[in-house]
Amino acid sequence: MTYLKLNDGTRLPKLGLGLWQVPNDVASFVVTGAIQRGYRLFDGAALYGNEAELGAGIRAADCPRDQIFLTTKIWNDRQGFDQTLSAFDESEARLGLTPDLILIHWPCPQRGLYLETWRALVRLREEGRVRSIGVSNFHADHLVRIIGETGVTPVLNQIELHPRLQQAELRAMHERLGIVTQSWTPLGGGRSFDAPPIRAIADRLGVTPAQVILRWHLQLGCSAIPRSTRPEGQAENLAALDLTLTDDDMAAIATLDAGERTGPDPMLVG
Ligand SMILES: NC(=O)c1ccc[n+]([C@@H]2O[C@H](COP(=O)([O-])OP(=O)(O)OC[C@H]3O[C@@H](n4cnc5c(N)ncnc54)[C@H](OP(=O)(O)O)[C@@H]3O)[C@@H](O)[C@H]2O)c1
Repeated sequence: MTYLKLNDGTRLPKLGLGLWQVPNDVASFVVTGAIQRGYRLFDGAALYGNEAELGAGIRAADCPRDQIFLTTKIWNDRQGFDQTLSAFDESEARLGLTPDLILIHWPCPQRGLYLETWRALVRLREEGRVRSIGVSNFHADHLVRIIGETGVTPVLNQIELHPRLQQAELRAMHERLGIVTQSWTPLGGGRSFDAPPIRAIADRLGVTPAQVILRWHLQLGCSAIPRSTRPEGQAENLAALDLTLTDDDMAAIATLDAGERTGPDPMLVG
C-alpha cells in the first residue's frame, strides 16, 4: 500500500474499497478478504446499511486495527449539530469500531445545515472522539464557508471523479487548500473502458482499462475507492498501485473529460 499525507498529519492509504451496494450477506466476508489481499482503506457510510458488516469484517481479519483506515459518513437527514453527534455515536456502535475519518456525505445546501454539521465534526475531533474529519460532494463555496467560519480545513473532499468528469477546477482548489481529493465512482460506470486512449494504453501496458483508469487517479494525486465484491476484481484494482503512466498517457486521458456525471449534482441533493 502507498499513502497520502493528510493536513492533520495522519496518513491515508491511496487506494481503498468502496462499500456502496455491497450486500449485507457478503459484506463482512468481502471486507475480510480484501484485507487479506492488501486493502487497508474502507469507505463506508450510514446510508449504505452495512456498517455492522463492515466493522465485523475488519474485526475478523488478522490485521492490527491501527493499520486499517476506516471512513464513514453522516447521512443527510442527520445534519445539524446535535443530530450529527448522535449519528456519529450510532455509526460507531454499528461498526463496533471508532472510524478514523468521518465525512459529511452531501452538503444539502437547501437544508442550510452543513455549517452546523461541520461544527459538530470539529467538536468530535477536539474531544478526541475521531482523528480526522472531512466532507464529500462539497463545491468550492461550501468549502470556503466552512473553513471561513470555523478555521478548520477538511482533510479531504470525496467527489465524483472519473475520466468523463475530471473536476480540474475543484482539484486545483483542493491542492491550494491542502485538501486531498478522493474519487468516488472512480471507474465511471465503465463508460470510458472502450475509449481509444484508454484501450491503447491498456494494450501497450498489457493491463485492463480499469487498471489504467485507477492509475490515472493515483497519478493525479487522488485517493480512489473502487468497489469490487469479486476477489479477482479487488486484486486487479489493487495492482494499479504498481503501474506507471507517462505524461503523454495522462494528457491523452485528459481529453476524455466531458463534464458528465453518473450521479446527481450536489447542489440538487436534499
Ligand atoms: N460520497 C458519495 O456520495 C459517494 C457516491 C457514490 C459512491 N461512493 C463511494 O465510492 C465507491 C466506489 O463507487 P461505485 O461503487 O459507485 O463505483 P466504482 O467503484 O467506480 O465501480 C463499481 C462497479 O465496477 C465494477 N468493477 C470493479 N472493479 C472492476 C474491474 N477491475 N473491471 C471491471 N469492472 C469492475 C464492480 O463490479 P464487481 O463488484 O462485479 O467487480 C461494480 O459494478 C462506493 O462503493 C462508495 O464507497 C461515494
